[in-house]
Parts: sequence; C-alpha cells; structure tokens
Amino acid sequence: MSDSELLFCLSPSILTLFLLLILMKRKQNRFNLPPGKMGLPFLGETIGYLKPYSATSIGEFMEQHISRYGKIYKSNLFGEPTIVSADAGLNRFILQNEGRLFECSYPRSIGGILGKWSMLVLVGDMHRDMRIISLNFLSHARLRTHLLREVEKQTLLVLSTWKENSIFSAQDEAKKFTFNLMAKHIMSMDPGKPETEQLKKEYVTFMKGVVSAPLNLPGTPYRKALRSRSTILKFIEQKMEDRRQRRKEGNENLNDDDLLGWVLKHSNLSREQILDLILSLLFAGHETSSVAISLAIYFLPGCPSAIEQLREEHIEIARAKKQAGETELNWDDYKKMEFTQCVISETLRLGNVVRFLHRKAIKNVRYKGYDIPCGWKVLPVIAAVHLDPSLFDHPEHFNPWRWQNDNNRGTSSSSYTSMTDKNFMPFGGGPRLCAGSELAKLEMAVFIHHLVLNFHWELADVDQAYAFPFVDFPKGLPIRVQHHHTACI
Ligand code: HEM
Repeated sequence: MSDSELLFCLSPSILTLFLLLILMKRKQNRFNLPPGKMGLPFLGETIGYLKPYSATSIGEFMEQHISRYGKIYKSNLFGEPTIVSADAGLNRFILQNEGRLFECSYPRSIGGILGKWSMLVLVGDMHRDMRIISLNFLSHARLRTHLLREVEKQTLLVLSTWKENSIFSAQDEAKKFTFNLMAKHIMSMDPGKPETEQLKKEYVTFMKGVVSAPLNLPGTPYRKALRSRSTILKFIEQKMEDRRQRRKEGNENLNDDDLLGWVLKHSNLSREQILDLILSLLFAGHETSSVAISLAIYFLPGCPSAIEQLREEHIEIARAKKQAGETELNWDDYKKMEFTQCVISETLRLGNVVRFLHRKAIKNVRYKGYDIPCGWKVLPVIAAVHLDPSLFDHPEHFNPWRWQNDNNRGTSSSSYTSMTDKNFMPFGGGPRLCAGSELAKLEMAVFIHHLVLNFHWELADVDQAYAFPFVDFPKGLPIRVQHHHTACI
C-alpha cells in the first residue's frame, strides 16, 4: 500500500480522534478546572507520577506540580482525566463524601487480581455488608480478648530467632510476623507448618503482581500473580470444604473461632465472596503493617533519644508486670504505651505506608471555586498533607514529641495537636476508614515493646524507604542486632 493510500485509510480514525479531542476540550472549557496539564495522549503524566522517590518526601513530580499549579491540580493519570489533591481540606471533603459525591475507584487491574468482591473495589450496599463482617472480626472486644495475646505470641516467635551480632533483613522479619499473624487469625494456620510456608511462598508471587504493571502476558509478574491467585483460592477453598465436612460430622472445633469459621457460620456470603474477602483481608492486613514496622525499625536508630524514652516506658511496664507476677501483656499494659503511640503516629506520618487513594467524582462537584467534573478520577494524596510544612513543623524530621499534648519540647500546644490530628489520615477516613487501624497500632506497639526491651539494632547497610508508590526497602532493610543485657525474652 502506498503512503497516500495508507493516509487515506487512516484519515477517518485520525479525524474521529481529532473531533473527540475538540469535544473533550469544549466540555472541559465549560468547567472552571484547576490548573495543570494533561500530558501525552492516553499515557498522560502517569509515568512521571509513578517514578520512584524517597518515601519521606513527596517526590519531584508532586513538588514541581504543586509549586507550578498549587495543591489542587488537573492531570491525566492511569488513563483518565484526574484531579490531584494535596490539599488537606479537599482530601477530608472527598473521604467524608464517599457514596454521595465521590466513590472508591481503584484501577481495574486491582479488581482483576484481588477479585471483584474485594473490599477495595466494592461500593454501595455490598461494600457495607463486607465492611460490617470485617469490623466485627477486628472489633475492639476481639482485640482485647483474642488478638493481643496472639500478636504477642507471634512477635516473640519472630524475635526469638534473632541471633546476637547477626545481620538479616528486618523487612522480611516484619513480613513473617504479620503474615503469620494474619494466617493464624484468618484460617488458624500455624507458623512453620508446610501448608503455611507453601501459602506464604504463593503469596510472595501474588504480591509482586499486585504492585506490578498490569500486563497479562506470558512471563510477566502480573500473569504469575494471577496464577498464584488461583492456587491461593484453591487452598482457601479446600479449607472451607474441610470445615463444612467437619461441621456435618459434628466435629467443629476451636479453630472455627477464626475469620473463615465466622463467615461460614454467621454470614450468607457466596463461596466466591468468601474467597475474595479472605484473600483481600490477608493482603490488607499483612503488607501494610509489615511496612509500618519496617519503617519504625528504620527511623528509630536516627533518633536515639526516642529509643531511650521508649525503653524507659517499656522497662517500667515490664517491671510492674514482674512485680505483679504476670507474664503476658494485657490491655492495661497496652494503654500505658503512651510515648509508643507517638512513635507510631510519627512513623505513619513520615513514612506514609499508603500514599494516595483512588476515587472518582459521581456528581459535578465545586470546591474552593474549582470544578471537579462527574466521572473524573480524583486522587487525594494523603502523604502530601503529612509532609506539608504549613501543617507540620519541619515535616522531614522524625519527631515523635510533636504528638504529645503536654510536650516540653517547645512546638506543640493543644490546638496544634488537634490541628495535626485533623490533618493526619494514615488510615484514610470517612465510611472507608481502615478496618484494621486498631489492630495495626496494636501490632506495632507490641512489636516495639519486645524489640526495645531485648535488642539494640543498627542499619547494617545503606538502605532507604522508596515509594514505588507502594513503600519498599530495595535491600530489604538489613540490620545487625545485639541483645540487651537486661533481656526479657
Ligand atoms: C499500618 C498499617 C495500615 C495502614 C497504613 C492501612 C491503611 C489503610 C487505608 C489508607 C485504607 C483506606 C483505603 C481507601 O479508602 O481506599 C485502608 C482500608 C482497609 N484496611 Fe487498612 N491499613 C493498615 C493495616 C490494616 C490491617 C492490619 C488490616 C486488617 C486486616 C486492614 C484492613 C483494611 C480493610 C479491610 C480496609 C478496607 C476498608 C473499607 O473499604 O471499608 N488494614 N487501610
């Protein structure tokens, strides 16, 4: 075919594309959109937005866009026209208006891999039903009666394998801890058993796919993860069958006290819904908490006075327990971990485990004079608020004392703390606030308790938390540990 014939054949498509662009432009002109640019056709600015950067910063892309356009700007991301918000007020407004003006809207690839019944992708009544089940299972009462004991047991199991002067990946250890905890809590699987190890192995492949480009081609991490997904689902299904069989035979046992037992007994979810719920809770509860614990291990050696104050707090708790003749931590001990809570908040603020959320406008919305057209993607960037110097003094510094109400280090007052609280959203907000936030804080506190009581640690190699945008340590955060002479395990 000659060049002119080719041009002739292609011209209708070129013309259609051209007309579409003009129509879109016209439609956009009706709105007072925030400033910004739409980038390349289709790709938009996605590549620049997703370029890895230090997790304790907002990255070059965000910095440049905010300084050029302000905290609310338009762009084209993930193949869709998008409003990006680094504005604390707009972020709160978006999350509080879930279901009314905005709706959760993760990329389709997430649904492909976590499943169409995953809580991350569900909206409306079905989301509400699944959420009630998760909240029931992660309730305050269960935290006190079941989970605290299990969290401590799994912490000690991991820490007891740490050898004097050895170097290992702190990130792998944190993952081991949170995975074992979730596997036990969800399906009563014991750590170290072949079936648990097998599931963990599949899960690693699965995770690599969740965070990779969604290319379903032979050999890609995404394709491998889809295969792992079906292996994991078969595994969970087998567990379900075993339970049903046991129940038929009147052989129910204590194991049914886990999430699987609970949904089988108390919900009327379909087989497919139970599978996706279990898989997505395993994902939500394991990845995030392990990153948060790794970040605490990473930040603390850079702030020796925080380690010192943590040790004082935990030695005092351990001493009181010894005097009372108790061994296991209880809820009152947990409530005494006040400075530890400041360390946890500061770790979540500076490290930003979840950096931004995916939403879309379901109505035309007007905010501070700007229009957000119905159907547009909306990204509330919670990390940008946590690292905003107009809201947090020296946001790049790890400063747990900023969270104390009556701190004696100069910066805080009650009004300052209530303002920081308002702008602090590591667990999201509104009707989709993280269902596991209390469990995550409990895991971090108990892990820190035994860590500071028993070990001194230092970073054994230069490593850094990167946002890919999921947070990861490229070298796995290698640390060298020494036992404290006053070891308590
Ligand atoms: C430090 C650790 C954690 C962080 C930073 C975190 C963060 C978040 C965030 C930001 C959301 C909101 C997502 C959105 O609105 O689109 C969320 C949702 C959720 N998280 Fe967490 N999370 C953590 C730990 C956990 C744990 C331990 C569990 C327990 C299984 C859990 C279960 C969930 C569930 C079920 C949802 C969905 C809630 C809903 O859609 O109603 N998370 N998490």
